[in-house]
Amino acid sequence: MEFILVEKHVKPFVSLIRLNRPKELNALNLQLMQEIKGALLDLDEDENTRVIIITGNERAFAAGADIKQMAGKGAVDMLKIDQFTTWDTIKKTKKPIIAAVSGFCLGGGNELAMICDMIIASETAQFGQPEINIGVMPGAGGTQRLTRAVGKAKAMEMVLTGSFISAQVALALGLVNKVVPVELYLEEAFKLAAKLAEKSPIAIQMAKESVLKSFEMPLQEALFFERKNFYMLFATEDQKEGMAAFVEKRKADFKGK
Ligand code: CAA
Repeated sequence: MEFILVEKHVKPFVSLIRLNRPKELNALNLQLMQEIKGALLDLDEDENTRVIIITGNERAFAAGADIKQMAGKGAVDMLKIDQFTTWDTIKKTKKPIIAAVSGFCLGGGNELAMICDMIIASETAQFGQPEINIGVMPGAGGTQRLTRAVGKAKAMEMVLTGSFISAQVALALGLVNKVVPVELYLEEAFKLAAKLAEKSPIAIQMAKESVLKSFEMPLQEALFFERKNFYMLFATEDQKEGMAAFVEKRKADFKGK
């Protein structure tokens, strides 16, 4: 890995992916995205990882796709490279992913944060889709996920003007889960990860999948999908353990079986 650092089981059942192109503000070049894809595929298979955190550094989560790498490309080149298919793999990750964001979270960086399941932001975080300023538009989900997160008016403003919003505004609009002082954003992400890591990983997977269906399916089918997942969980040992623990007034010990 050249552009990311992966720390497996840095906390119990929690693994960390750190974007590591600090001089370029973690601009997402093709190799970096391939490395994220590889790391996520690996962590999704890893028995001892239940939650994944993706982070950058204090100055930048990521300042977008690598403009220098794209600058000379034509439409046919872009079609052939088809860089956003990599993102489909990220979307298919079964385990929950938390983005721990500080500093610039722009363009593809914001799209990467939004493809994660939850976002913890530092007070210094700035979110934006500034592609319009360089003659293009968001291409990795920005027009869709941002609109679903913050609503049409604000998404239209951000996408058409390229203006950034602060962490506090992002919180008020529902783009992020929590805003904390900069020295605490990673710690806060670990706290959230620890909460998820102690649940049944199978129930977490089914629940994540069901929430995501709300963006993709009509309500009636999505409700049916949810119901099937709920019933399916009664085939797990974790359901037996979870309910027995409640009845016996003790903490459940979920094994992911
Ligand atoms: N691609 C490539 N390099 C980038 C980059 C990017 N997206 N963002 C920053 N960098 C590089 C800069 O070129 C600079 O490199 P050099 O030192 O070699 O000149 C270095 O990172 C530091 O950046 P700045 O000197 O510009 O830092 P700053 O503090 O003055 O400004 C910034 C910070 C406002 C984030 C500014 O760098 C900026 O506007 N970056 C581009 C943001 C952007 O347009 N993102 C969208 C990209 S397109 C996209 O993402 C498409 C998609 O949907 C996937």
